[in-house]
Amino acid sequence: MKKAFITGITGQDGSYLAELLLDKCYEIHGLIRRSSSFNTERIDHLYKDFHDPEARIYLHYGDLSISGQLTDMLYDISPDEIYHLGAQSHVRVSFDMPEYTGDVTGLGTLRLLEAIRKTGIKTRFYQASSSEMFGASPPPQNESTPFQPRSPYAAAKVYAYHMVQNYRDAYKLFACNGILFNHESPRRGETFVTHKVTRAATRIKLNLQEKLYLGNMEAKRDWGFAGDYVEAMWLMLQQDTPDDYVIATGETHSVREFVERVFQKLELDYEKYVSIDSRYFRPTEVDALLGDASKARTKLGWQPKVTFEQLIDMMVKADMELAEKEKTLLDAGYRPKGNNCMI
Ligand code: NAP
Ligand code: GDD
Repeated sequence: MKKAFITGITGQDGSYLAELLLDKCYEIHGLIRRSSSFNTERIDHLYKDFHDPEARIYLHYGDLSISGQLTDMLYDISPDEIYHLGAQSHVRVSFDMPEYTGDVTGLGTLRLLEAIRKTGIKTRFYQASSSEMFGASPPPQNESTPFQPRSPYAAAKVYAYHMVQNYRDAYKLFACNGILFNHESPRRGETFVTHKVTRAATRIKLNLQEKLYLGNMEAKRDWGFAGDYVEAMWLMLQQDTPDDYVIATGETHSVREFVERVFQKLELDYEKYVSIDSRYFRPTEVDALLGDASKARTKLGWQPKVTFEQLIDMMVKADMELAEKEKTLLDAGYRPKGNNCMI
């Protein structure tokens, strides 16, 4: 049985990747942060108590900002594959917390690479690089497009990307950068624009919310489905040689178009409900992302399965179910669990 170590297992991608690797009969070790409230919601359906002989997911407390502990953990587990997905991943938040983002999103990668080098374990390493690194470089973007980062988050990811290449060249580590364009799902964090929109629109439909406040609606993104993208991560680590790959759909849409389509599906006119609030604007924006994933298609045999339309349907359906539950509770006189006040 192969062993995988996943950082960020409690995040959107971590949960889909854990599902995929369980299907492939891996034993999974995940890094989780201590939290005063539960933070394992996205993997609860996969977890079995470790006393259960069928348990194949093991969770370990730790933090990407603490190197000694990461080194000990990797030495003890000695995983065949490491998927490094943990990060402060919110671009807008990175402007509020640039130092923390540099530490966790940038240096976190270096800490893991150093842990591999120092322990000498034989493993393969996946780095969650990002299309955000292309920043101001005009679309379409592929593996040869220069990086022009436009946020502390993107700059931290560029640093991590280069450290991966450096450790690959200097120490012959099997280390890959997956340069993934935006990917979404019903498990997407609710402060990212797609989920913020589908959640708000479904709540508006059921009179649970009156308005939706957004920032720059003209930005364009290449949005795919997270479940498809984790397959590409796995494929990268199954190749004979390590390399870097762009993963994208090759289609781009504006935030406005996304909003319009979601509201249309619910037979609502978005202009009646959506207002602009400048606090959601970023000091510097990435205007347009559109990925060219030809290399992944040719070398990995990867291509996305879920279309933009299907992604919207999936997210609207899941959020409508949540909104209906919320309404049922409210109608019965119960106060549902709080909404995120930072959305
Ligand atoms: P996400 O939902 O925000 O998940 C981030 C994960 O990192 C969570 O499990 C989080 O733990 C963990 N984490 C944060 N800070 C940590 C720390 N100091 N120590 C240990 N763990 C920490 O992100 P995602 O959408 O799944 O994305 C996965 C990775 O791909 C990230 O590196 C992201 O930057 C990158 N990426 C994402 C996209 C995309 O469109 N989704 C595109 C390109 C690249 P908690 O649950 O405790 O917060
Ligand atoms: N979050 C958010 N909230 N974004 C908004 C809003 C809003 O209210 N209004 C407009 N936007 C615009 C942002 O300015 C941005 O141009 C676009 O919507 C997408 O924002 P996010 O969904 O926050 O994603 P992102 O593109 O900044 O970053 C995501 O994708 C990257 C890959 O390109 C994250 O998942 C990153 O971790 C990832 O690397």
